[in-house]
Amino acid sequence: MDIISRVMDLKTSLKQTRLKGKTIALVPTMGYLHDGHLALMRQAKMDHDLVVVSIFVNPLQFGPQEDYQVYPRDLNRDAELAAAAGVDILFTPLVGEMYPRGHQNMLTFVDVHALGERLCGVSRPDHFRGVATVVAKLFHIVEPDGAYFGQKDAQQVIVIERMVEDLNINVKVVAVPTVREADGLALSSRNIYLSSAERQAAQLLYKSLDLAKEKLGAGERDAAVIVSEMRRILAVEPLIKIDYISVSDPADLAEQKIIKKTALVALAAQIGRTRLIDNMIWRESAGVNSGADQFAG
Ligand code: PAF
Repeated sequence: MDIISRVMDLKTSLKQTRLKGKTIALVPTMGYLHDGHLALMRQAKMDHDLVVVSIFVNPLQFGPQEDYQVYPRDLNRDAELAAAAGVDILFTPLVGEMYPRGHQNMLTFVDVHALGERLCGVSRPDHFRGVATVVAKLFHIVEPDGAYFGQKDAQQVIVIERMVEDLNINVKVVAVPTVREADGLALSSRNIYLSSAERQAAQLLYKSLDLAKEKLGAGERDAAVIVSEMRRILAVEPLIKIDYISVSDPADLAEQKIIKKTALVALAAQIGRTRLIDNMIWRESAGVNSGADQFAG
């Protein structure tokens, strides 16, 4: 596996790959890799000849009070895991390489307006602008045939799919099912922040989604009923502060009152100093996006 930190070096290397007629996959990450990331890499490797994984903690997508400075970083460990997963190139730019004038001096942004303003966008106002901008930059640098994202960040996937469509970017966006711990907690680099009591509490997030699935399966279609049932489960645990629970249309993230054929049931909660998100997509014919949820450990 090659480790490349300069944009020019990566472009030169990938030009050779393309000349040989090989296809390229990109897995954008912020590092501190876990099994969820490795699932993206394995899928990318199955679908394409060459896999590029980027590791870049993007300052543009963190709010002023958020965890940019303390976000976990361990490049040596990440490099070992990525190499073992069959990754060909690890792209590890410094902030000055991605934002040569400094990220505070950026003048050009990609903003997928309404889609970035709902759900997580309410409490993280510039987050999706930061995500879309850095992902657009990575798409221009790597020019991948396919790009792989975790379904855990459902809104991120929807934002990026729309950006790709609106800006005619020639890449296939692939969403890979959420990987979970044995008790259902979705894997996240931020899980490392949880104390043992908080970790215990965090399993209720998945339990609340599971209850929503059960209610939907039993024919409940009133979103308010589903949300209040989920709140009831989460209220048991004083460590959990709900940011939002949303039942929306995955096409445009508009809230649904009466659930139709498809629903994105998504939530965000603060547990101690850690903000966690999770979701499931429910389809009338197929039930939950199963096949979807994988369990680790
Ligand atoms: O999902 C993430 O880790 C980040 O939002 C991404 C897509 C790598 C952009 O910085």
